[in-house]
Amino acid sequence: MTTRRRILVTSALPYANGAIHLGHMLEHVQTDIFVRFQRLQGHECIYVCADDVHGTAVMLNAQAAGQTPLDYAAEITKAHIQDFQSFQISHDCYETTHSKDNEQLSAEIYSRLLASGNIEKAAVEQLFDTEKGLFLADRFVVGGCPACKTPEQYGDNCDACGATYAATDLIDPRSKLSGSKPELRTSEHIFFALSKHTEFLKNWTQSGALHPAVTNKLSEWLDTGLQNWDISRDAPYFGFEIPGEPGKYFYVWLDAPIGYIASFKRYCASHDLDYEDYWRADSDCEVHHFIGKDIVNFHALFWPAMLTAANLRPPTKVTVHGFLTINGEKMSKSKGTFINARTYLDQLSPEYLRYYFAAKLNPSVADLDLNLEDFVQKVNADLVGKVANIASRCAGFINKQFGGVINASTGTPLIGHFQSAANEIAALYEAREFSKAMRVIMGLADQANQFIAEEQPWQLIKNPETRDRAEAVCADGLNLFRLLTLYLKPVLPGLAERAEAFLAIEPLAWADHNTQLKGHTIAAFQPLIQRIELAQVQAMIEIEQAQGQPAQSGEVAPPPEEDTIDIAAFAQVDLRVARIVAAQAVVGADKLLALTLDVGDHQRNVFSGIKSAYQPEELIGKLTVLVANLAPRKMKFGISEGMILAAGPGGADIFLISPDSGATPGMKVS
Ligand code: 2FM
Ligand code: ZN
Repeated sequence: MTTRRRILVTSALPYANGAIHLGHMLEHVQTDIFVRFQRLQGHECIYVCADDVHGTAVMLNAQAAGQTPLDYAAEITKAHIQDFQSFQISHDCYETTHSKDNEQLSAEIYSRLLASGNIEKAAVEQLFDTEKGLFLADRFVVGGCPACKTPEQYGDNCDACGATYAATDLIDPRSKLSGSKPELRTSEHIFFALSKHTEFLKNWTQSGALHPAVTNKLSEWLDTGLQNWDISRDAPYFGFEIPGEPGKYFYVWLDAPIGYIASFKRYCASHDLDYEDYWRADSDCEVHHFIGKDIVNFHALFWPAMLTAANLRPPTKVTVHGFLTINGEKMSKSKGTFINARTYLDQLSPEYLRYYFAAKLNPSVADLDLNLEDFVQKVNADLVGKVANIASRCAGFINKQFGGVINASTGTPLIGHFQSAANEIAALYEAREFSKAMRVIMGLADQANQFIAEEQPWQLIKNPETRDRAEAVCADGLNLFRLLTLYLKPVLPGLAERAEAFLAIEPLAWADHNTQLKGHTIAAFQPLIQRIELAQVQAMIEIEQAQGQPAQSGEVAPPPEEDTIDIAAFAQVDLRVARIVAAQAVVGADKLLALTLDVGDHQRNVFSGIKSAYQPEELIGKLTVLVANLAPRKMKFGISEGMILAAGPGGADIFLISPDSGATPGMKVS
């Protein structure tokens, strides 16, 4: 028995100034898969998050909405929580950074930094908006780039030439808030003495807490030398006033990560746990942060340095993901690809995206592309065509023909093979190699489908002598399906729940991979997952597009080019992998062969004009592609239920289109 680990996990705290979009969801899904996996392993794994409510942006948005920052943020936080719950994100506690706990902890950590000589003060020159009466953060001021002179650039860097500079260097600066010319003013700011911690950070960033690519990036900064970190902002500012410093507030990035501790403390208070167990300097508990690549410096430099300076422990691991792109491009409002979580949820099941993200996630910082066609194809092929297909193929026979009892087994070595894959899959989840884990699991699903296809229980059942074999094959099929459900459970908790209900079993835990069902009665089968229709994805994009467009756009969609069809027309053709299970010549027809095709969950009869190129027997067992939604055609010799694809001029030169051997009957071709 391995020891029970105590693990605290966080996702970055979303700002309370906008809706949750699919970029946020990528991070929360990645975190949630890790968390659910740890819980299935039997570890104590607590997942906390919060809304990040402080700072100038929330303050100004609230003002514009005629609300107090607290009321404004509270409404947004409520919507955030609903979006996360709908996506099956299993936060144990979702707080706000404007809490009493966070205020106290921020004050406590600050006083420790002060006592340990880590706080310094220095005068800072900044642009001040005299009309609004506040100092301007970099993104609230625009002007000419001091390097290339391009006008209308933000106060931190130039979009045109990439130069970085101080806002005070802009040519003819202007406030974005009032349009007025800001004044240069000086005020005293409070700094965390980050530079003192350079040696510690050089070691910590090499300690295995970070992906090597992140360590390398940080070592560039560490080698050029760290500046002290400005942790104060002058009033007016929505945040916590710094103790002993009237009119000065903690910069939002000081109390945001402390919000991780505060949210956890809140959870502990109602669960008989001591939050300090996890945070004291010598803690043997684990703390894991999941973040995006844009906020690495806050989590892998400022935060670990601040924690150790305050005599607390640094994080165990910081997992950094890249940005989400859609169809290969940055999310864009006008293209309808800046997709809010709620718009997605209104059209599609969260399970689809959870699976798609899992199938593409790994521990690297590379961007992850949501290609919408690939998304439809992959989810349908893997979840519907491979996983759910096993259950639907076998459950009908067990329930209708064998009293609903899983009893027999063919003794196939596949069960043992599936069971022994548990360790490899667990190691991949632990290492955040989710795409590799999904590949291993889908490889197993292929093997299960192949086993069933080869055994052909639908044939075995017809013959009294092989009826027992049909029962054993279907019982094995359901046991294999149960193991796949377990392995997918961190990614697809909803599907797992439905499968557990139909198999009539207790919620699966990781250790259950050692067992199998025998002498067990299952419940009625219920469909586990529905296919995604491209139309649902198109509807989602159209809704986002309509929201992202000005009310009266002059743009008109280009007309389709002649001699082409658009993707929607192509998507109407339902192409399926099929296996030829029988083939024979047709009496009275020179060119035709009568083929029986296995299309996964049923069989089809198709007449095909390929007799001049193939002997019937050589076709049996071959995979091909079927146009599955072609209207049935009544022919002289019977009804043809579809058409198979072949290439070539004719005669002996007709070549059957045949997918590689990994494909299984019923899979969608796109
Ligand atoms: O970048 C952001 O969206 C921040 N609100 C993340 C804060 S994470 C943590 F440090 F609090
Ligand atoms: Zn420039």
